[in-house]
Amino acid sequence: MILVTGATGNAGGAVVRALAEAGTPVRALVRREADLPAELAMGDLNDPASVAAALGGVRGVFLLSGYDRMEETLEEIRKAGVPRVVLLSASAAETGNRDNAVSRYHIESEELVRASGVAWTILRPRTFFANTLRWLDQLKAGDVVRDAFPDVRVAAVDPLDIGAVAATALVADGHEGQVYPITGPESLLPADRLRMLGQALGRDLTFVGLSDEEARAQMSAAMPEMYVDAFFDFFAAGNLDESAVLPTVEQVTGRPPRPFAEWAAANAHLFR
Ligand SMILES: NC(=O)c1ccc[n+]([C@@H]2O[C@H](COP(=O)([O-])OP(=O)(O)OC[C@H]3O[C@@H](n4cnc5c(N)ncnc54)[C@H](OP(=O)(O)O)[C@@H]3O)[C@@H](O)[C@H]2O)c1
Repeated sequence: MILVTGATGNAGGAVVRALAEAGTPVRALVRREADLPAELAMGDLNDPASVAAALGGVRGVFLLSGYDRMEETLEEIRKAGVPRVVLLSASAAETGNRDNAVSRYHIESEELVRASGVAWTILRPRTFFANTLRWLDQLKAGDVVRDAFPDVRVAAVDPLDIGAVAATALVADGHEGQVYPITGPESLLPADRLRMLGQALGRDLTFVGLSDEEARAQMSAAMPEMYVDAFFDFFAAGNLDESAVLPTVEQVTGRPPRPFAEWAAANAHLFR
């Protein structure tokens, strides 16, 4: 039995599906009822006792970063005799910059997992393809998408590939103590992704890059200021480079990562 946290989300949902497809029993820690191919356990990542209550018979935990009292949660996992944890971190941890709020919570989560006494694997995915869903409202309103950081190339990744890597590391030996950067197969500008999405939708779409001032206003409406500052530090100041395409997905899973065009075709219905 594998316990998956964040199971209703992009990454955790993909982990649940990858495990279920491989025939591995899955328990999903959820905050409310959900339709998942898994047994459900009600719990909250900010409440270590609720995680502890979900650990019976568990042989691996897929854990999200950045929640309260994570040290206690990890101690519960260790006490329950769970042999391994796979932590969903991010490329942001690679900057080592604790003054950046996004990097900080990933760095601190990684440190706690490394010190937990449980065998660990750390995943550092790049930007998710699923972030493209943030364009939904603009694409429902018209054929123009305006977004931040138009000149930043990212080897973005399909959450399904994060799920495949995580599922492998959760059930197979040989991944303990490994830090896996996870990328897609190509390095794309936002305008490239929009063009490919347009091809999947049969629409001619136009990308317009926002100025830094416009981007800050748009992002501030969606997230706290410290995270806006963090993303400006990454992508406007250039302190995080997610452009490199890396072989990890193929090395771990035996097959190459999915291209963005495939994600766009599979998710086109969401934009219609
Ligand atoms: N998006 C990216 O580009 C990116 C890149 C690198 C790393 N990451 C990391 O990946 C993480 C997951 O991303 P995602 O796209 O999968 O997120 P998501 O789709 O927003 O899903 C978040 C999941 O966490 C659950 N959750 C939230 N608060 C919780 C709590 N207190 N207790 C238990 N579960 C809780 C949510 O459950 P509910 O359904 O109950 O809300 C949901 O299942 C991010 O938070 C980030 O740290 C993201």
